[in-house]
Amino acid sequence: MLEPQLQTHAAEMFEVLADPAIYEFENEPPPSAQWLAERFRRLESRGPDDGSEQWLNWVVRLPAGALAGYVQATVLPSEVAFVAYELGSAHWRQGIGSSAVRAMLDELREQHGVHTFLAVLKARNFRSEALLRSLRFEPGDAQQQAQYRDEPDELVMVRPSAFGG
Ligand SMILES: CC(C)(COP(=O)(O)OP(=O)(O)OC[C@H]1O[C@@H](n2cnc3c(N)ncnc32)[C@H](O)[C@@H]1OP(=O)(O)O)[C@@H](O)C(=O)NCCC(=O)NCCS
Repeated sequence: MLEPQLQTHAAEMFEVLADPAIYEFENEPPPSAQWLAERFRRLESRGPDDGSEQWLNWVVRLPAGALAGYVQATVLPSEVAFVAYELGSAHWRQGIGSSAVRAMLDELREQHGVHTFLAVLKARNFRSEALLRSLRFEPGDAQQQAQYRDEPDELVMVRPSAFGG
């Protein structure tokens, strides 16, 4: 189940996000629970004051009640959304990531009018690429790679939202 992410999730999410396996290819764990609480508080604003983009964040709650990770999207005025996701490694390879991301894509399409989904990942991140391919993302064309990639070792994956499913 996806729940809108709130500051009150920070303590439990700090435990989930402390897992070093998540950061094999990029980023690092949050430095403290306080730091994460402050970040979640800022994200509750759902975007910058000028309204130029929307930041949408959900925690992933398992049927037994524990949190497994998060999914997030940045929606641009052009109704293109960048998506990202992280789960604790105890929960990998059980279909949780793909069902959580699929639920987010449905929400973005139906409630926010998003027509194109983008993900920017390290090209070596085979787990993330596999999840995206299972959801019918494909590598972007040369123009999209040039437009959306920040670093040369990144890969831009794209899915038009009209695909459904
Ligand atoms: C990427 C991540 C969210 C995948 O979550 P997950 O719950 O394990 O994914 P799923 O079990 O739903 O698998 C989705 C698809 O990817 C494939 N896949 C997932 N992990 C894989 C692996 N290690 N090797 C090969 N295929 C893999 C699955 O086979 C599945 O495809 P299928 O349904 O067509 O068989 C998880 O590995 C993770 O949190 N990684 C660390 C954070 C990260 O890298 N985030 C992305 C940053 S861009």
